[in-house]
Amino acid sequence: MNSIAELIETMDYGPAPESDDIVKTWLAENKVGFGHFIGGVFTKPGKTFEVISPATGETIAHVTQGTADDVDAAVKAARSAHGKWAALSGHERARWLYAIARRIQQHARFLAVLESIDNGKPIREARDIDVPLVARHFYHHAGWAELVETEFPDARPVGVCGQIIPWNFPLLMLAWKIAPALAAGNTVVLKPAEYTPLTALAFAKICDEIGLPRGVVNIVTGDGATGEAIVNHPDIDKLAFTGSTEVGRLIRRASAGTGKKLTLELGGKSPFIVFADADLDAAVEGVVDAIWFNQGQVCCAGARILVAEAVADRFGALLRERMKHLRVGDPLDKSTDVGAIVHPVQLARIRELMDKGVSEGAQLHQGTAPEGCFYPPTLATGVEPASTLATEEIFGPVATLTTFRTPTDAIALANNTRYGLAASIWSENVNLCLGVAAEIKAGVVWINCTNVFDAGAGFGGYRESGFGREGGREGMHAYLAMPAPKPPKADDAPAPIPPAPGLGGAVVGIDRTAKLYVGGKQKRPDGGYSYPVTNTKGEALGLAGHGNRKDIRDAVEAAHKATGWGAATGHNRAQVLYYVAENLAARAEEFASRLKGFGQSASKANREVETAIQRCFWYAAQADKFDGAVHQTKSAHVTLAMHEPLGVMGIACPTAFPLLGFVSLVLPAIAMGNRVVAIPSQTHPLAATDLYQVFDTSDVPGGVVNIVTGERDELVKTLADHDGVDGLWYFGSNAGIATAEERSAGNLKQTWCENGAARDWTGQDGFGRQFLHRATQVKNIWVPYGE
Ligand code: NAI
Repeated sequence: MNSIAELIETMDYGPAPESDDIVKTWLAENKVGFGHFIGGVFTKPGKTFEVISPATGETIAHVTQGTADDVDAAVKAARSAHGKWAALSGHERARWLYAIARRIQQHARFLAVLESIDNGKPIREARDIDVPLVARHFYHHAGWAELVETEFPDARPVGVCGQIIPWNFPLLMLAWKIAPALAAGNTVVLKPAEYTPLTALAFAKICDEIGLPRGVVNIVTGDGATGEAIVNHPDIDKLAFTGSTEVGRLIRRASAGTGKKLTLELGGKSPFIVFADADLDAAVEGVVDAIWFNQGQVCCAGARILVAEAVADRFGALLRERMKHLRVGDPLDKSTDVGAIVHPVQLARIRELMDKGVSEGAQLHQGTAPEGCFYPPTLATGVEPASTLATEEIFGPVATLTTFRTPTDAIALANNTRYGLAASIWSENVNLCLGVAAEIKAGVVWINCTNVFDAGAGFGGYRESGFGREGGREGMHAYLAMPAPKPPKADDAPAPIPPAPGLGGAVVGIDRTAKLYVGGKQKRPDGGYSYPVTNTKGEALGLAGHGNRKDIRDAVEAAHKATGWGAATGHNRAQVLYYVAENLAARAEEFASRLKGFGQSASKANREVETAIQRCFWYAAQADKFDGAVHQTKSAHVTLAMHEPLGVMGIACPTAFPLLGFVSLVLPAIAMGNRVVAIPSQTHPLAATDLYQVFDTSDVPGGVVNIVTGERDELVKTLADHDGVDGLWYFGSNAGIATAEERSAGNLKQTWCENGAARDWTGQDGFGRQFLHRATQVKNIWVPYGE
């Protein structure tokens, strides 16, 4: 007789199909095709395209391909609804968000089945993960609507938001976009992905059913061309995109210089690190959730398994065994683990990448999958770090398996990617886990867990995984605008600025030549040129180095070497900044006379120096106080939201306020642990170059602040292009903003670009928490606790 263990081993489950009757009825009712949802009305279907169910290949709906006119109509509807919606009290908006959340719960089964049919994801996931998270997101943000006036007292809504989402979590991505936008008082035009538009249309129906004010939510369906029409629409104030890094980069370029606020949540190639002392059985289940969840079509999927050499054989064997038991097939079967790939085009893309991987020497270990739009769970071994399978986002149920020896190796391998979305770390040693979490360049780190989400925590990436966070307080920032900075008062503005002097010339009789400041040393400009600096009367005051691209690159390299600064404690940095403040104060007269020399009145010069000194003290005090948070998320988890420096920042300073502008930008950046390459005021650089000695005598480590003088708008191009620069602040001209933003698209660095002349650097707009906020990014670390 068979033992019970044997019976369990061999027993197969029968199918447990979920009924799709109500969804079929709804689709039949809309057989003629779906239009858009604009201004609270479902439009007549236009030119349509087919929507297929990937599991069966059946055409299940016809959906309208949105034109530029459709997008325009939707933007107009959103614009005209905006005033009233933004004027509602937060409490009134909260009631609408609660109504949406409740209605989603009432329709939960319908939405889960529709999502499963449209996307191919297992009903178990749609039912237990996607839809509950959608409802949670609206509930959570109903709370933010209630609190927005008190929690963000100075902020106002951004306006009309254009939102473009992908096909992997269609309804959940819609919730991530729409809930915070509405809570903050914005109206939206959202485009779902062309493969999976149906739950967005069902959501439109929900908005209609509850009587949401017309035009607050507009849904326009279509493909990339419709997305482009949204991106290029001139009356959109904010763009939010989730999807491929490639399209994210296009959007960054297209929106450069338009003043549109932008958040991008892009691709990933996240590491899944298993240390030798990990609970291996739990880690195997972790892999199931990391890469076989949603067929691996997850931006934060743990696609690169890194396992300690000592346990690699055992772990690999356990994984291969587990893989065999994954049930791949009908998404509507409640016992299915892995469903269909979203579309035959995506399946072809996965196959192509896998063929390339095999031709580069990878060995594949695979489970089974039925015929059709399915791909078997796969482990790839023998994968070199630079090969296709290790570097490209596959977006399928495929993980690579690589070994490491030491934690340092694991960190190096984990960070060996252009992405930085997420990471998962498995070990029973919490010190090791947190130590590694601190070193990994990723926006989300899961310790002994993976793919855990909650509306209360921010989600979003570092590096080419994009910028901005969605969820929680961090996500609300993306949908709120600070009041426009006040321009300097006419009588407060510095003396008129002479036109930029000719560069490269020499001035007779002047022996004062300021060099560049790189790696803590004064350095001649690479080209050997200087340019004359004059006062407002056009009289020569001295020469400044005419830096070039090579000087910027050297400065970036020097900044990269100053790694100790980011790792130093806030207290250490505070002490150095106090010295800077004290040493500047000791030389206040000298700095004031320098400013007077440019042509400023004595009182203005004194005030500029005085304010610069105060700012140094203020940022010194902030260096150990700009704390993160512990978010309220799932039970038995702490979710630590830590502020981390961006890394190496490029800062192009305003022309006016040559000392104060410099200090107001560089000090918050270094207070937060960044290292900086700064381009001072082009016309008046000598106030900044006089700081070299202040930095030297204040023990600012070499490489923390690097200063390259010269043609600001030329030099900033090299900073924007440079992949070693993680963040760029540009406070120059309007024309320069467009260039800086456009060129930053290469490595998708975070930018803050404004017209430097439009901000009163002497007043409240010249300093504050927003500078610290901009100088940091949040890493959310999830740590479960208990048995
Ligand atoms: P995609 O980035 O092209 O599509 C995402 C959304 O952007 C869709 O709504 C699409 O219609 C829209 N879109 C496409 N081109 C656009 C443009 N020029 N302007 C504005 N909107 C545009 O992603 P796709 O082609 O569906 O998938 C390709 C690869 O991208 C996948 O294999 C995967 O590697 C990655 N991907 C990553 C996602 C993530 O969440 N990180 C989500 C979807 C795809």
